[in-house]
Order: sequence, then C-alpha cells, then structure tokens
Amino acid sequence: MPTAVSSIAVWSDDPRLRPCAEEIGSRLGLPLGDDAPVLLRVTPERLELVQTGEGAPGPVWIDLGAVDTRSAGGARRDQPLSRAVGLRQGVRRVVDATAGLLHDAFLLASMGCEVVCVERSGVLHEMQRDALERGASDPALAAACARMTLVRADAREWLGGLGAAARPEAVYLDPMHPARRKSALVKKEMRLLRLLVGEDADAQELLAAAIGAATRRVVVKRPGHAPALAEGVVGSHKGRAVRYDVYSGRGGDV
Ligand SMILES: C[S@@+](CC[C@H](N)C(=O)[O-])C[C@H]1O[C@@H](n2cnc3c(N)ncnc32)[C@H](O)[C@@H]1O
Repeated sequence: MPTAVSSIAVWSDDPRLRPCAEEIGSRLGLPLGDDAPVLLRVTPERLELVQTGEGAPGPVWIDLGAVDTRSAGGARRDQPLSRAVGLRQGVRRVVDATAGLLHDAFLLASMGCEVVCVERSGVLHEMQRDALERGASDPALAAACARMTLVRADAREWLGGLGAAARPEAVYLDPMHPARRKSALVKKEMRLLRLLVGEDADAQELLAAAIGAATRRVVVKRPGHAPALAEGVVGSHKGRAVRYDVYSGRGGDV
C-alpha cells in the first residue's frame, strides 16, 4: 500500500546514537537526516515518530505501559474483545494481522493469548521491536510481551502461506477506516498513523485471507456506527465506541 507521507528520514539528536539511526535507516531504505516532514527519531529512551514544522504535535511512540488492561474496556475477560475472540471457548492462538501500535495485540496477550503481530509498515515494525524490547525489561509488562511475536509482512500473503500446523485459531483485524469529519477529536497517535500508512483500502482482501487461514474465527474491529466490512457476520460484540464483528474461519468451528 502507498504510504500517505512521501518523505521520512531517520534521525537522532544525540550523535552517539547516529550509528543506531543509520542502521535502522539502512534496514528501512530511509535516509539519515532531520529535514523531512516526518522523522523516525532514536532517543536514549525509545524510538519515536514525529512530525516536523511549526505547530506540529509532539512525538508518538508505542507505550505498552499506557494500554488500559484493567477497566471494562481493557483486558478483563468479560469485555467485548475477549468475547469476540472466544477466550471462554478456549481460543488462545491469535494472529493480529493489522498490528499497528500494538495496543490490541497487547490486550490480547494480557488476556493470555499467544499473539503473532503482523505489520506491513517497516517504520511501525521497527517501533514495535523497540516497544517489545522495552516491555521485556519491565516486570509489569514482560509476561504479556513474551507472548507476542512480530512479523513484518503483508498479512494477505503471509496468511495465505501458512501451512496447516501453523494456522491460528483466530485472526484479528483492525484496518484503518476512512477519516471521520470531526478529525480534531481523533487522537494524535491515530492521526500520525494515518499519515504514515494511509487508508487500508484492501481490507476486504485481507478479510478473505484471514477467513482462509483461521481455524475457528476472524474478528474485525469496526467503528460503532460503520457497516460491516463484508457479509457473513455470525456475531457482534459492542464496546463503547467500537464493535467487534465475528466471522467463521475455514474450520467453521466458531
Ligand atoms: C488501525 S491500525 C491498527 C491499530 C492496532 N489495532 C492497535 O491497537 O494499535 C491498522 C494497521 O494495520 C496495518 N495493515 C493494514 N493492512 C495490512 C496488511 N494487509 N498486512 C499487514 N499490515 C496491515 C496498517 O499498516 C496499520 O498499521
């Protein structure tokens, strides 16, 4: 998919971290420099994405410690996400095929799922690696992080290439949906993510690949007011602002 932003550079304000920035840049095919509209910035604490220019919002990084794992909207086993994924029915092996900022993947891992997190944006994949490395050394996050594995790939192809033994019980999808008109209300993280990856116009193809790969079910997160991504929804679980639509996987054993 084309990215929405045309130019990204990798940078560190700290000269001692420039070799690290250069290495990340060469993995991603991005230049080293600080004069692009968006910078992937290496700091002593983390890898962060930041827009440059006057009035630009502050940096965004993946902060697993900030994911709400306690409230009714968090990782409690009675919340809509866990019901949609089928935790009570014993589902544990999950692929998050739209891993993004890892919030949903971390929630699923906090509920006890083994989660393979697939992301096609190289920049996000690097930020995910950084977040998991930091999480692994934080006692409050380490157990859930150990249940998460990262894959950089287009999930449409990756899911199609899985052999029978590697197929997950559930595939979770949260494709980028069209921008809302009240865009000022959309969080800084989501705005920058949209700028980076654009819209996921191929989400229906991804759903077809997910249905072909999941042995039990596919869950699609949708804005509460939005229509289903495709026909064939066998169940829906409503959260406060979102809805989780469930589709049968190839095994039909939802
Ligand atoms: C709305 S974000 C997901 C946010 C995520 N659920 C979270 O909790 O942070 C959608 C992400 O899916 C990724 N994506 C969309 N289609 C994909 C595909 N076919 N393969 C891999 N990644 C994909 C996009 O690059 C983007 O990062």
